[in-house]
Amino acid sequence: MSYTPEMRELIKKVEATRPQRLGHDYPRMTPEEKQDVLKNHHPDYIQEQFREAKVGPNKGDRFPHEVADILEAYARMDRSQFDVNQPDKEVDVLVIGGGGGGAAASLMAHEAGADVMMATKLRFGDANTVMAQGGIQAADKPTDSPAIHYLDVMGGGHYTNIPELVNALVSDAPDVIRWLEKMGCMFDKDSSGNMKTKHGGGTSRMRMHSARDYTGAEIMRTVRDEVICRDINVVEFCAAVELLLDDNGKAAGAVLYNMETEEYMVVKAKSVVLATGGMGRLHTQNFPTSNHYGATADGLVLAYRAGAKLAFMDTVQYHPTGASFPEQVEGFLITEKVRGLGATPINVHGEQFVYHLETRDVEASAIIRECARGNGIKAPSGMAGVWLDSPMIEELHGEGTIEKEVPAMYRQFARFDVDIRKDPILVYPTLHYQNGGVLINDQAESTLENLFVAGEASGGIHGRNRLMGNSLLDILVMGRRAGRNAAARAKDSNGQSGKLNVSHVDAFEKELKEAGIDKQLLSPILIPLPEKLNPRLKD
Ligand code: FUM
Repeated sequence: MSYTPEMRELIKKVEATRPQRLGHDYPRMTPEEKQDVLKNHHPDYIQEQFREAKVGPNKGDRFPHEVADILEAYARMDRSQFDVNQPDKEVDVLVIGGGGGGAAASLMAHEAGADVMMATKLRFGDANTVMAQGGIQAADKPTDSPAIHYLDVMGGGHYTNIPELVNALVSDAPDVIRWLEKMGCMFDKDSSGNMKTKHGGGTSRMRMHSARDYTGAEIMRTVRDEVICRDINVVEFCAAVELLLDDNGKAAGAVLYNMETEEYMVVKAKSVVLATGGMGRLHTQNFPTSNHYGATADGLVLAYRAGAKLAFMDTVQYHPTGASFPEQVEGFLITEKVRGLGATPINVHGEQFVYHLETRDVEASAIIRECARGNGIKAPSGMAGVWLDSPMIEELHGEGTIEKEVPAMYRQFARFDVDIRKDPILVYPTLHYQNGGVLINDQAESTLENLFVAGEASGGIHGRNRLMGNSLLDILVMGRRAGRNAAARAKDSNGQSGKLNVSHVDAFEKELKEAGIDKQLLSPILIPLPEKLNPRLKD
C-alpha cells in the first residue's frame, strides 16, 4: 500500500524544503528546553498512567498500570502437576531466556566448567536481540575511551544511572566486540579492514559498531551458533513460571511450563540467571511496540514474587521513530541509524522542528509535541506521525547508500511500494525498551541471593533513558558477568541447596489478599493479553 494522493501532496512540502535543510544542522535544545519538552510531553510524566504497588518489595513505588497489574496477579502454575522436591533435572546453572543475554551467560558459565541448562519460552533466539537494528556501542577507537563513553551514558540517563553498572558496561565493551569478532560476527568495516562506526543520539564519539541494519540478528547468529557448537543443553518452548527457593531463601531453580505439551518441569539449580527481556508487549499507554511477541515481563514477575527488588520501573523508553504507515507495520522500528545517516524529522508544513540526534526521550517528546500542536500528518489508519526525511541520506552520502547501509529497512518498505530512497517515512514514537527492571550490582546479582539478571530484565544501568546501542552491549556485558558469577557461585555452593520450595508464592498471594486484590489475572502472562493485541494511538 503506497502513500495516498493526499499524503503525496504533503510530501511535496518536504521535497520543497530539502535543499535548504541540506548542510544546515538544526540547533540543539538547551538543557531548559529539554526539561520543558520532557515534562510536558514525555509519557513518563503523565501521572495518571502510573500507580503505586500495593504489595511486594517495591510497595509504594510507581509502576505503569500495565506492569503493576501483572506484578500484582496470582500464580499461574498448577501445583497438582508437579512436586518441587522431585526435580526432573538438576544442573549447576539454569539460564532462563534464549536471547543474546541468555546465550552470553550460558557460554560463560559453560566455559567456567558449569553444567548449564538454558530454558527459553519460544525458540532459541526469539528475542528483542534479533530485532535490534542500528548497532552496539564500544569505545575502541583512538579518539575515544571508556571514560568518554561513561559520560555519554550518564548524560543520556540524566545522571540517574547507577555508576558502578555504567562503569562495568563501558569497561567491558571493547572486549565484547573482540569476543564477538573472534566468534565470527561480521561487523561493517572499511576497505582497510577497520571497523566502521557512527553516531547515535547523545553520543559524543562515533562508536556505534554495526552489521548493516541487522546488527542484533548478526550478534544473535554468532552467539547462538556458539551455544549450539558447544552442545549446551537448550530447552525450547519451556517458559519459567516460578522461581524455586531453597531453605535459606536463595534462588535454587525454576518451575518450567512446556508451551507445547502443557507439562511442567522442575529444574533444580545451584544458581539461576534471568535473561527474559522486557515488557514491550504490555503496550503501556496503548503505544504500539517495536518488541518481539514474547516481551511480556515474565522475569520481572518471577523475581518480584521471590523477593527481588526492582528499580527504575517508572520510566519507559519510547523510540522516537516507529512506523506510522503502512498499518501492517505500525510500531515497527525505524532504526536510529537512519537519523545517524542524516535523515531529519519534518512536520506537516515541511519544516524541521528538532535536531535529529537529540537523546531518545527528548526526540520522542518533540515528535509527540509536534503532533499535539496539530503539525502532524494523519495516516489513513488514524495513526499520527511526522515525516522522517530518508531521501536526505542519499543526498548527503551518495546514491546507493540506503541499500548499502539499511538494506533491511529499504526492503521492508519496498514490500508496501514505499521507496525510502525517494520518499520520507511516516513515524511516531513506539514502545521500545524497559529502562527499569530487577536491581542488580556490577556482578549482575540481584538482591535475591543466587539470582543473577542480565539485559533488559535488569534495571539501573541506563537510568531514566538509554542511548542507542547500549542495549546490545548491556546484554553481552551483563550476560557474560552473570554467567561467570553464576558458575562461580555454583562451584562455591558444593551442591548444598537443600530442599526446594515455592513458599514465597504463598506469602505473596497472602499479601495480595490482605491488600484486597482479587484473583482476576494470572501471571506471568507468557503471551500478550488479548485486549492489548492491536493497540492504536490516536491524537
Ligand atoms: O534504533 C535502533 O537501531 C535501536 C537500537 C537500540 O535500541 O539500541
